[in-house]
Amino acid sequence: MNQHLKKLLDLRLKAREGGGEARIDDQHKKGKLTARERIDQLLDEGSFRETGMFVTHQSSNFGLDRQKIPGDGVVTGYGTINGRPVAVFSQDFTVFGGSLSEAHAGKICRIMDFALKNGLPVIGLNDSGGARIQEGVASLGGYADIFLRNTQASGVIPQISAIMGPCAGGAVYSPAITDFIFMVEHTSFMFVTGPNVVKTVTHETVSAEELGGAEAHAVKSGVAHFTAANELDCLTRVKKLLGYLPSNCEEDPPFLPTEDPSDREDRWLNDFIPDNPNKPYDMHEVIRCLADEGDFFEVQEKFAQNIICGFTRLGGQSIGVVANQPQSQAGVLDIDASTKAARFVRFCDCFNISILVLEDVPGFLPGTEQEWRGIIRHGAKLLYAFCEATVPKITVITRKAYGGAYDVMNSKHIRGDMNIAWPSAEIAVMGPKGAVEIIFRKEIEASSDPEEAVKMKTDEYREKFANPFAAAERGFIDDVIEPSQTRRILIQAFGLLKNKVDTNPRKKHGNIPL
Ligand code: HXC
Repeated sequence: MNQHLKKLLDLRLKAREGGGEARIDDQHKKGKLTARERIDQLLDEGSFRETGMFVTHQSSNFGLDRQKIPGDGVVTGYGTINGRPVAVFSQDFTVFGGSLSEAHAGKICRIMDFALKNGLPVIGLNDSGGARIQEGVASLGGYADIFLRNTQASGVIPQISAIMGPCAGGAVYSPAITDFIFMVEHTSFMFVTGPNVVKTVTHETVSAEELGGAEAHAVKSGVAHFTAANELDCLTRVKKLLGYLPSNCEEDPPFLPTEDPSDREDRWLNDFIPDNPNKPYDMHEVIRCLADEGDFFEVQEKFAQNIICGFTRLGGQSIGVVANQPQSQAGVLDIDASTKAARFVRFCDCFNISILVLEDVPGFLPGTEQEWRGIIRHGAKLLYAFCEATVPKITVITRKAYGGAYDVMNSKHIRGDMNIAWPSAEIAVMGPKGAVEIIFRKEIEASSDPEEAVKMKTDEYREKFANPFAAAERGFIDDVIEPSQTRRILIQAFGLLKNKVDTNPRKKHGNIPL
């Protein structure tokens, strides 16, 4: 072997060894894979081409000039997932704790620039102690360079973050700008300030897991869109998510042929909605019934469960579902549900994913807690998101569509392309009892039998408004359908809408109520 080749192979070997055997063993003992093992699991076998393998940091502070490891704590490159090209970076905790130096940041920026120019999704596998402390402001600058690229790539290429170890301090803001965050249970955490700082500032005692583990961010903060039991599960789910998404905003999402008949009838749906309007049911059952082979990939499953968001397929087409969930808080819209669904609708609109709305909503949640925390501006986010979305949008009202929530949930007035109702739909300003108590208050008070008066007026109101026909008479509802026919009608409608063209007025960007 000639000397030049030997030097190349030696350097490659050194880069592959990362922080060395002992640190790799530590990583495995924690139940974690190494940066390269993760890439191997994520990408199609043999497809990975590494970039920047020989990059080292340029710092001499605190003896760093004697510690240089080729690659400098992050593995970057490109490859394929199910045959589709992607860009990837994977932080190597065995090298300076995966901490971010100027050179490390430069590698991430270069692969992001490559992805943006070539229209490839970027997947970031995060496992890092944050800013490389020895490098000071050079490291902070490196983060800002990444944040800028995350923002510029937003809406152009899908960006997915998997948190597979620590992610703390300002470092959290790169994943936060990306489209989806996965977290691995028990081995990953995210927080702006860790337990020690929390203790000093607020005197609260909390563990890293409680403060910023996968469960905390899946249930309480809504920061994590997906959690996984372990790293392999996480990487498998990243791949599954990508299957619903196009590679960039200029493409259509991938089509997946299905054996499930597009004219399948589901007779049980005709009797699925309970007669008692206050009785809950699980909207997941409706989604899974309509979907190709029951397929549904839910986003933020444990957060704001009163609204369901996720991806499905109808007749092979990738569809984003937004559905009220009567089984959780009667499907009411509150602050968390509004912001969760607004972000999901905007994601679908960025990436040409048609939206299906399944509506059963009693309105916005009343109360001082919601009003003082700003349900007005947060609810407006969902309204804004549906109003601005130009992708095909279909609404099926299964039961309640009351008040402002009727307008918000992709009504005809805000460019719903097809608005259909089941016969059980109730479309009105408010629920019958509440309405009657307001508009007939004096008559009820004057009545010798107020209870009977309320009942009579409620029946009258229900007859007049708590059905889909008043809205259908005005053309606000395109059709009232047999529930059993819903799948067939949706597949046909989304097929027709495939070539839909709609635009918004020319502008720099809108000003969504934040
Ligand atoms: C340089 C670091 C480092 C860092 C860890 N290491 N973090 N080196 N800069 N930020 C090194 C350690 O010295 C150690 O080196 C190796 O990585 C593994 O670290 P351990 O502490 O032994 O591992 P562990 O016990 O698992 O703890 C992991 C950890 C802890 C929780 C991440 O290392 C830690 O708290 N690190 C500092 C986190 C932090 O405060 N970062 C700055 C956040 S502020 P050896 O050679 O011994 O193996 C920030 C600002 C970003 O990031 C701002 C953006 C706007």
